[in-house]
Amino acid sequence: MQIERVGIVGWRGMVGSVLLERMLAEGDLAGVGTTFYSTSQVGQSAPDLGAGPSTLEDAYDFASLSKQDVILTCQGGDYTKQVLPRLREQGWAGHWIDAASAKRMDEDAVIVLDPVNREVIDRGIEAGIRNFIGGNCTVSLMLLSLGGLFEADLIEWMTCMTYQAASGGGARHMRELVAQMAMLGQQSGSLLADPESGILPLDARISELLAHEDFPTDQFGVPLAASLIPWIDSAMEAGDTREEWKAFAEGNKILGRQDDPIPIDSVCVRIGAMRCHSQAFTIKLRHDVPIDEIETRLDEANDWVRLVRNDKASTLAELTPAAVTGTLDIPIGRVRKLRLGPEYLGAFTVGDQLLWGAAEPLRRIFRILRDHD
Ligand code: HSE
Repeated sequence: MQIERVGIVGWRGMVGSVLLERMLAEGDLAGVGTTFYSTSQVGQSAPDLGAGPSTLEDAYDFASLSKQDVILTCQGGDYTKQVLPRLREQGWAGHWIDAASAKRMDEDAVIVLDPVNREVIDRGIEAGIRNFIGGNCTVSLMLLSLGGLFEADLIEWMTCMTYQAASGGGARHMRELVAQMAMLGQQSGSLLADPESGILPLDARISELLAHEDFPTDQFGVPLAASLIPWIDSAMEAGDTREEWKAFAEGNKILGRQDDPIPIDSVCVRIGAMRCHSQAFTIKLRHDVPIDEIETRLDEANDWVRLVRNDKASTLAELTPAAVTGTLDIPIGRVRKLRLGPEYLGAFTVGDQLLWGAAEPLRRIFRILRDHD
């Protein structure tokens, strides 16, 4: 479809910056008139994409917003709730691409993850859907890694045990994690430097620091460095957290199977990684599928997933947040049949939650809309 004008909101935040960087790297905005909006710095210089200098427009200027063919926002759910209904009421018929969760489960929105649900996206476009929302990062990374099994409808039920990075909480959370690490390092330095000092005094010093009132915990509420937090987002009625519920609710919506959902249960845990989410899966297959067929299906499902051999050297080299960070790779490893029986499969995956977990599906739906007849 003809996209002459796109408005970008929330491009300065963490997800927005990664998204803009990716869009510029891929030339997504070439030939499209781009307006940058701001909620706080209206009138200041906007990024120059080669069309000459321009200024930031007001993200609440409905007359300006309604001139856009596409609005791409990483501004957050409150902005979506304030702006989108009013734009639609005023008759705006453009396409809304959004990183926030506010509209994900609405009937007039498709959650986008095209390597997994291109058919659902195409059906939505044909049906006149104009709201395209990026999925929860953990859910998108889970679906990309297991795309080959979902595609063949081999999963009867599954659990996801997650190990989620600080970035999922936001930029300030990442800083706080590093500040916690720095304080632990700095204030135990003399014990660490002296190998003769024994491990117990060093351990006692760390425990003391973790409990100290000056330990920086404004964002997480408790220490994350040298610890973990088995709670992400708000409580749901069933005893799970919203983050855990999303794997089931959003996961099945992305797959277009709300009428026949696959039971998915999770325990979501924050750990001290920077920007890669990891997940361990226990999968009940619909029947006993040979392991080599499973491995081939996993490996070949899309251009980003890659099977990692189930040995120590490959796992350490390829299946850690440190190895994956900043890349679009979706390695899946530790794949094996479980002792529970031949229909039970274990696997482990890692993915960058700012790339495939947030920015990439959004820039790709922009391209899909642009290339659509
Ligand atoms: N909710 C996710 C997390 C990130 O807290 O890690 C955004 O999808």
